[in-house]
Amino acid sequence: MNVANRMNLLGTESAFDVLVKAQGLEAQGHDVVHLEIGEPDFDTPSHIVEAGKKALDDGYTHYGPPVGLPALREAIAEEINTTRNLSVHPDQVVVTPGAKPIMYYTIIALAQAGDEVIYPNPGFPIYESVIRFADATPVPVPLTEDRGFSLDVNQLRDLITDKTRLIIVNSPQNPTGGVVPESDLKAIAEVAVEHNIPVLSDEIYSRLIYGDTFHSITAYDGLENLIFILDGFSKTYAMTGWRIGYGVMPSDLVPHFNRLMVNSNSCTAAFTQMAALAALKGPQDSVDVMREEFRKRRDIIVDGLNAIPGITCPTPGGAFYAFPNITGLNKSSQEVADFILNEGHVACLAGSDFGVYGEGYLRFSYANSIENIQKALERIAQCTAQLQT
Ligand SMILES: Cc1ncc(COP(=O)(O)O)c(C=O)c1O
Repeated sequence: MNVANRMNLLGTESAFDVLVKAQGLEAQGHDVVHLEIGEPDFDTPSHIVEAGKKALDDGYTHYGPPVGLPALREAIAEEINTTRNLSVHPDQVVVTPGAKPIMYYTIIALAQAGDEVIYPNPGFPIYESVIRFADATPVPVPLTEDRGFSLDVNQLRDLITDKTRLIIVNSPQNPTGGVVPESDLKAIAEVAVEHNIPVLSDEIYSRLIYGDTFHSITAYDGLENLIFILDGFSKTYAMTGWRIGYGVMPSDLVPHFNRLMVNSNSCTAAFTQMAALAALKGPQDSVDVMREEFRKRRDIIVDGLNAIPGITCPTPGGAFYAFPNITGLNKSSQEVADFILNEGHVACLAGSDFGVYGEGYLRFSYANSIENIQKALERIAQCTAQLQT
């Protein structure tokens, strides 16, 4: 069958490929530790599950408004206004099945052939994939370890041309766990306002931050008509499989997102939206419990990785990823990741899966039990010792 040329432009997320390989090893009887997939290993808090079940019983099983149920849009606007010190209207909120569609819709709504989009590298692979799919040119801005995986704002300035249609910012970050400092956010905001360039701020890990409080780029003056916030429920409330997220944007963009929803998903599942409403309105202690558990695991994996010769691991400030530097092993990221999977049965991702500037690193998701993390560390130490002989 002839497939449209544009399909060659679409990339993927290697986490799903590695998961399949790891499951293949499991099918052969091997015990694999999964540190590849970026999803909380906790159950969705029970009051949220109960709200979802009740919604099914109450008949929330039909189509609804493409941009989301009014009650949920209102609750999201309230949440954004409280946590980001903004004053957005519920009409600026678009609810989607997972937060990923907001990324997709923002890029295809703003960029086309001849346009450029600046995105973080290493970064979430879907940014580059969708920019290419939109026929636009991806312009990577390097995130470097010496800056705590933030970007150099002068370099960002140099990358801007009259074709730049969007700047993507992600903090806390996937894959590095880095948090962009307030001073850099302010400087990026100033650059965006000066050049009148929209910003997509991917804040999906906004509640998973271990140090200071969360800072959003949206807080800076002048961005009101340029900002797209992406956030959701997948990571904060362990709701990856419910598929619910949202975007907040200037009101004139909402009709475009409405049509994108009508043309793709129709709407987000109504009972899922009711569960999300319960997540926002209900007790938040489960979010704190999860974050504190992640903090413990982070400290264990970072200390353990730093104790392995040839590896150094900075302490991530957010999300649930460790991004160790493995250049001391003198092998490519992919070779090391493959060796650790095939010989040590620990699944992780090569830093190069997140872009060229990710070479020399591995990504470990520490959304797994302490026992499994310790088992993985022992196996990684054995594998890297073998690699060095
Ligand atoms: C940086 C980043 N943004 C967005 C998403 C998408 O989240 P969702 O599962 O809600 O679509 C992810 C998921 O891994 C992510 O890591």
